[in-house]
Amino acid sequence: MNTIHVPTGRPYDVCIRAGSLPELGEKLVTMGRRGTVAVISDDTVFPLYGETLCRSLAQAGFRVVCHIIPAGEEHKNLTVYAQVLEFLAREHLTRSDLLAALGGGVVGDLTGFAAATYLRGLDYIQIPTTLLSAVDSSVGGKTAVDLSVGKNLAGAFHQPSLVWCDPALLSSLPEAVFRDGCAEVIKYGLLGDAAFFQSLGELPIRQQLERVITRCVEMKRDIVADDELDRGRRQLLNLGHTFGHAMESCSGYQLSHGQCVAMGMALITRAAAAMGLCPASLPGEVEALLISYGLPTSVPFGAEELAQAALSDKKRSGARLHLVVPHDLGDCRLVDVPADGLLPWLRGGGAA
Ligand SMILES: NC(=O)c1ccc[n+]([C@@H]2O[C@H](COP(=O)([O-])OP(=O)(O)OC[C@H]3O[C@@H](n4cnc5c(N)ncnc54)[C@H](O)[C@@H]3O)[C@@H](O)[C@H]2O)c1
Ligand SMILES: [Zn+2]
Repeated sequence: MNTIHVPTGRPYDVCIRAGSLPELGEKLVTMGRRGTVAVISDDTVFPLYGETLCRSLAQAGFRVVCHIIPAGEEHKNLTVYAQVLEFLAREHLTRSDLLAALGGGVVGDLTGFAAATYLRGLDYIQIPTTLLSAVDSSVGGKTAVDLSVGKNLAGAFHQPSLVWCDPALLSSLPEAVFRDGCAEVIKYGLLGDAAFFQSLGELPIRQQLERVITRCVEMKRDIVADDELDRGRRQLLNLGHTFGHAMESCSGYQLSHGQCVAMGMALITRAAAAMGLCPASLPGEVEALLISYGLPTSVPFGAEELAQAALSDKKRSGARLHLVVPHDLGDCRLVDVPADGLLPWLRGGGAA
């Protein structure tokens, strides 16, 4: 078992081992947990892994109740969130009980927000079942639901009590969902670890899942431990995302998050090279790795429309407008950009 300790205000462990799902119940007992576990999952994941999880919990002496939400980002909303809270109340969950999120980032974000708010907060654990949730959303305590005007606009910081990652659960992922996660994995390499980046070109991610997830979680842990509430360094995790989000919006959400993050990373690396901030060979290296994982690198949108989209994103979220700029493999730096300063980056990165 690879165990990564996350030393946030409320510290917790991320445990990663293929085949470990049936052992989760025992683990919770050794952590001193008892009472009820409310499992929240979606209607794709629960039929695959719900029974194994519930059996493990029941055998360890827990009362287990389950609530299944429909799969998909469109259900990460206030209505489904309210239904989860009503379910918890009907089942008489108390503050000493536990929620368990079995699923990808949608289930994890929604369950985490329910845990942050039901009875003013109870504990929850994450059992990630997508590559993205394993390397990113299950760690760090950001929880949220979407509002009609934008994503993740209602939420809270609430760290999980445990992240239990069984990479064997990723074997049933549709290829496109897995590929989206690969974009985030490549992001970690470019962001902070050149040797790790190189290793992704030598052996497919699928064939080294435990190692890859462990290294990504270590990197996220280091950044989150430094900046739990996202006021500075944590924004490095937005590499490829500032323009990636703009591309998602310009595509009318027809392109996936992972595809847009891939294009966003390729674009910002080309821009950095054009400005002489990184080696001229870096864009080629980044593009080649993305392409080898079936991810796109050239940008089908104009610089003006991307700048508009990035600015309206910023207006809604109130976030600082910043870019994460590669200076070399494994060395990226934050640059604050004024609202009228985006176009040179976009044009330098190849947007028309
Ligand atoms: N909290 C954070 O820090 C953070 C970070 C990044 C992303 N997010 C959020 O994560 C969400 C995206 O997460 P995601 O990419 O995991 O999407 P998702 O949860 O929608 O999962 C993608 C699809 O795969 C299915 N699926 C999940 N696991 C499966 C498995 N093992 N086998 C077969 N099918 C499976 C799901 O049912 C769904 O249809 C977004 O809402 C995003 O905002 C949060
Ligand atoms: Zn992302």
